[in-house]
Amino acid sequence: MAHLIFPSILSADFTNLQLVCETVNNSKADGFHLDVMDGLFVPNISFGFPIIVAIQRNAQKPLDVHLMIVDPGRYLERFRNAGANILTVHFEACKNLKQTINTIKKLGMKASVAINPQTPVSYLTEIISDIESVCIMSVNPGFGGQKFIENTYNKIEQMKEIIRIKKSNALIKIDGGVDLNNSFKLVHAGADILVAGTSVFGSEDPIGAIEILKNI
Ligand code: DX5
Ligand code: ZN
Repeated sequence: MAHLIFPSILSADFTNLQLVCETVNNSKADGFHLDVMDGLFVPNISFGFPIIVAIQRNAQKPLDVHLMIVDPGRYLERFRNAGANILTVHFEACKNLKQTINTIKKLGMKASVAINPQTPVSYLTEIISDIESVCIMSVNPGFGGQKFIENTYNKIEQMKEIIRIKKSNALIKIDGGVDLNNSFKLVHAGADILVAGTSVFGSEDPIGAIEILKNI
């Protein structure tokens, strides 16, 4: 399978959300990556339901909502109603991970589980066959524009091995510091989905940047 590109709109210009949506719609991107932060699980606050609804109205591609919030199980249905197609919850933030995954699927969404840079990939062994994708964070969550953590390549290798042993279909998603320099090595190492914020929306030509990331 060719790898997928999900631009993170966190570093886009929020004064014109419609233009942001058109940019992603008219690009080779495979969907939107929306970062929700609560100021508790991570030290930053981003946006919530009204912004997701506004994007959903203009988006012609799936929305992957990345919940960097404490106890995300409280809000699964509300994010589904806001327009989420894929819900990414953090291993570290869930009170009952298995139950959260099951509810996400019952609500008709795809379930994705993210792990922080300090969390070993082996912690996902028991649930790897229940989820659509695992999101290996390649920065500490909370902010766009951070430096990519090189140990991510080792974690991809380890994750691939677990997926193989468990005969799982889970995709490997990488989020944080993805750019035109490391994307080739990431895909070569086994990444299936690349999330990119600053390298897309910080560029003069976001559609062109997405195309380069997609064509590697
Ligand atoms: C970080 C977010 C990322 C971020 C990626 O907490 O989860 O999705 O927006 O942005 P860049 O590509 O700038 O690291
Ligand atoms: Zn994210």
